[in-house]
Amino acid sequence: MPEPSFPPARPRTCTFTESDWQVLAGFWHPVASAEALGSEGPLAARLLDQPIVLYRSAGGVTAAADTCAHRGAPLSLGKVCAGTLACPYHGYHYDGTGRCVQIPAHPAGPIPSRLTLRRFAACERHGLIWVCLKADASPALIPEFPEAGLERFQVIPVPPLDWAASAGRQVESFCDVAHFAFVHPVTFGAPSPTVPAYLVEPTPRGVRAEFVSAVGNISDAGSGQQTWRRLYQLTLPFTVHLDITFPHGGKLVVFNAACPVSARQTRIFPLVARDFDHDRPTRETVEFQQRIYAEDQRKIGRAHV
Ligand code: FES
Ligand code: FE
Repeated sequence: MPEPSFPPARPRTCTFTESDWQVLAGFWHPVASAEALGSEGPLAARLLDQPIVLYRSAGGVTAAADTCAHRGAPLSLGKVCAGTLACPYHGYHYDGTGRCVQIPAHPAGPIPSRLTLRRFAACERHGLIWVCLKADASPALIPEFPEAGLERFQVIPVPPLDWAASAGRQVESFCDVAHFAFVHPVTFGAPSPTVPAYLVEPTPRGVRAEFVSAVGNISDAGSGQQTWRRLYQLTLPFTVHLDITFPHGGKLVVFNAACPVSARQTRIFPLVARDFDHDRPTRETVEFQQRIYAEDQRKIGRAHV
């Protein structure tokens, strides 16, 4: 993966404080599903108030500022031709390193070196496109989702969700166990709001918490004596790997990867993995997760348009 070609700069219209932006810009964040990007792109995304264009070339995925180096047109409105991104305004072509390689109006003339896009680190993993706005990001630091590589797990992507809330607030809601009885009484919450004691421990890149309770979806609740084990593993800043062990021993994982679009907008890219019920329609699982997220969203994050 080529290194980004510019020092990180906070966008001119930025909703984050300078210090928050500088810290968050040093992490990998999910910005799109690989499916949405398709085989070529381009695709518009937004991360930490930075408009981004994504496209594919022979070198892999490129993420760059969505601003042409010529007259500033949005490159996400252009098209990809043979691995280069063509601007919709004057048709300049940019290769996967962000360098201009063709000026249609002057095909024989020299190409100034300043015609180079501001590029960011980009990587495709777990069916998502991850971007880091700083140069020193190692792909090894992208949050792990080991079930994606295990044959016994079926991975089910849930379409992205847009919340009018900060990513921190969304992740807090995902990890909160005291709201189940109030927000999710029908989908899976237990009637009692009492929260059994549980331990939250620091990890090298976040925190983990193991929570055992009688909270489970009602079709499996049975006598009420059964227990569900939830292992939350937060990788800073905004990705949570939730591993749920059902009373019957099956495992369901919800990978909650939240993109801080701005300080007040979050796009969530949920992935579900299960090692049981492979013969049941995946649509049921997608709709069930959508219902749960919608219950949470009504409390803290109205959909934005
Ligand atoms: Fe992009 Fe002119 S603005 S080629
Ligand atoms: Fe919830």
